[in-house]
Amino acid sequence: MVGLLTMALTGCSTAEPPVGSSTDRATADPSVSSTPTYSPPGMSSPASPSAEPEPEPELDHSSPASIHVLVNKRRPLNPADYAPEDLSVPDVPPSRTGLELRQEAAGAAEDLFSAAAAEGVDLNLLSAYRSYGYQQGTYGGWVQKYGRAEADRISARPGFSEHQTGLAMDVGAADGACALQQCFGDTPEGAWVAEHAAEHGWIVRYPEGAEDTTGYSPEPWHLRYLGTREAADVVHSGGVLETAWGFEAAPGY
Ligand code: DAL
Ligand code: ZN
Repeated sequence: MVGLLTMALTGCSTAEPPVGSSTDRATADPSVSSTPTYSPPGMSSPASPSAEPEPEPELDHSSPASIHVLVNKRRPLNPADYAPEDLSVPDVPPSRTGLELRQEAAGAAEDLFSAAAAEGVDLNLLSAYRSYGYQQGTYGGWVQKYGRAEADRISARPGFSEHQTGLAMDVGAADGACALQQCFGDTPEGAWVAEHAAEHGWIVRYPEGAEDTTGYSPEPWHLRYLGTREAADVVHSGGVLETAWGFEAAPGY
């Protein structure tokens, strides 16, 4: 209980382990529009109100290199030591050098950071891609500090972390307030991220009240890249990835 309380107060950082680290979609309904649309000759006509909606593309939730891979305690990366091939350094203020994301996610991180800055919200990148080996150190550090049961609530075992996909990042306020702590959600930066992340293709992956499904205590700082269409869909479905995509809950290994 003391450990739980400590974590609630101090947060559940997985960015810097204590020890052992090596190192819209449009929502407009065409059927409500009464304004005829003129199409110049030679251009295709707009979809008629009775036209079938575009079919959803089939998403690949299993390949580790898929933008839509689902990783949780029941769905490890395969292979366990998968490493992305297109890592790049996003042009955002990093808390330390060498933070990388997959190329598409890096661009989306830049979009999110600059949209936030344009509204006076300054963010810092605290953690991004973490290799299998790095996650070993991270998870092992938490196990040493809190024991395995509590470590499992805040840190993924190696081979089970979204950070290993290069599609997840931890963000914080540039002034360092509530970095990797639950109270980040109550800061202007945390509130901005919760409201606007999906516009840039990201979701808050471990929301409050979903630990029984995601397997992790709330992490208002941990964002997962999905692309704008999927991120909007997940938010409209309640914000929990497993539920939105129809997967079973993953409370434990
Ligand atoms: N903190 C998240 C669950 C991770 O370690 O990937
Ligand atoms: Zn994270």
